Amino acid sequence: MPQDNAPDSPVNPAAKLWGGRFSEATDAFVEQFTASVGFDQRLYAQDITGSIAHARMLAAVQVLTEDEADAIVRGLEAIRAEIESGEFAWSVAREDVHMNIEARLIEKIGETGKKLHTGRSRNDQVATDIRLWLREAIDALRVELRRYQRGLLDLAEREHATVMPGFTHLQTAQPVTFGHHMMAWYEMLERDAERLADCRRRVNRLPLGAAALAGTSYPLDRELTARLLGFDGVCRNSLDAVSDRDFAIEFAAAASLIMMHLSRQAEELILWASAQFAFIDLPDRYCTGSSIMPQKKNPDVPELVRGKTGRVYGHLIGLLTLMKGQPLAYNKDNQEDKEPLFDTVDTLAGSLRAFADMVPNLRVRAENMLEATRRGFATATDLADYLVGKGLPFRDAHEVVGLAVRLASSRGCDLADLALEELQGFDARIEDDVYDLLTPEGSADARDLLGGTAPAQVLARIAEAREHLAHVAG
Ligand code: ARG
Repeated sequence: MPQDNAPDSPVNPAAKLWGGRFSEATDAFVEQFTASVGFDQRLYAQDITGSIAHARMLAAVQVLTEDEADAIVRGLEAIRAEIESGEFAWSVAREDVHMNIEARLIEKIGETGKKLHTGRSRNDQVATDIRLWLREAIDALRVELRRYQRGLLDLAEREHATVMPGFTHLQTAQPVTFGHHMMAWYEMLERDAERLADCRRRVNRLPLGAAALAGTSYPLDRELTARLLGFDGVCRNSLDAVSDRDFAIEFAAAASLIMMHLSRQAEELILWASAQFAFIDLPDRYCTGSSIMPQKKNPDVPELVRGKTGRVYGHLIGLLTLMKGQPLAYNKDNQEDKEPLFDTVDTLAGSLRAFADMVPNLRVRAENMLEATRRGFATATDLADYLVGKGLPFRDAHEVVGLAVRLASSRGCDLADLALEELQGFDARIEDDVYDLLTPEGSADARDLLGGTAPAQVLARIAEAREHLAHVAG
């Protein structure tokens, strides 16, 4: 929480950086209510970096002298050090991170400090800060996403030929390889990484120079400020630059999709770790026990990630609703963009980190997966395909196999357990070679086409993905 030990007191309205036209002090509650410093101090580094670039640009266009710009930059660097060492006294009376830093600059360097805000408004300042902050956050998230993807590639490679039941409607459908299943997760995350990269392009544009809303009469070199701050370009309309938070909404949408994907993965991990499935063991260090039931090992991490998905969706809806119906240009409503954005980043970063650490270390119980694949007639489609190969139309083959499944089901055995003569009773064209296809491994091997579940295809996609990851950022 910010400490309120700054020298300016609400009793003296002139102590506010904007106090000139006011004749009474801000109501004490309103001061608290409108302040954002409690949360936007998180933008201090971006605020200082943005101010330094602004000061340098002002000197380049001779609005400030080089000496003035130097004094401002030195003062801001000293403030950065104060904040990072915990010495900085944050003040609610100074409302937000921008005015806390600017007021402190004036305290430290005097008159020259008052020139920093030339040709600038908090409106373009905050829009710049938040874009700088989000750009860094996206880059850090992409590193974590890539780490998780690499972990999935390792796991998929280890288990590329491990056979498990594939499900539709959560009913056994056809055999798939566990490596293929992990690569499905990889592909989801690959699209997520693309979305983050695409979102970053629109985040990375400079609002500074828009000033309050209309631009400024100073001959600012916005392209220079953009270059100094590593922006790819400049926002082309001052009204739009200070008002829209669509980039934050877009990020929250990309984040929601990632959480949606993680929640689906979480759900499968939870199911697979149950005694009923027993397909995997999660490492003990990612699970907790029960205070009453001694046998319990609960998959808390995936459950929490599944649960946290809800709050990220909430932030997306919150930001959309915050923006809805706002007239141009800046409105104080936009101060409400920060907490949901920060929490979205924190939640996503934590969830990705947990999965990147945990999932590649899960233990696969291949024998149980294979056993489960043998139950549930996962190879029925293979038998139908076999009959099609012998000249039967697919619909008729479907019918024939259905009868075979009924027989096996009544006996409590698998199709592969029926004798050749019994199978020939359904169609005389069935021969001894059918048994290769009726094994789970044979079924998976047969799906050897681009994007299919055959181990050879899984390995090929892993190699391609490794090559891709070697060339992408993060
Ligand atoms: N704390 C404000 C925000 O986060 C900064 C901009 C305030 N601008 C203003 N004209 N009151 O949006």
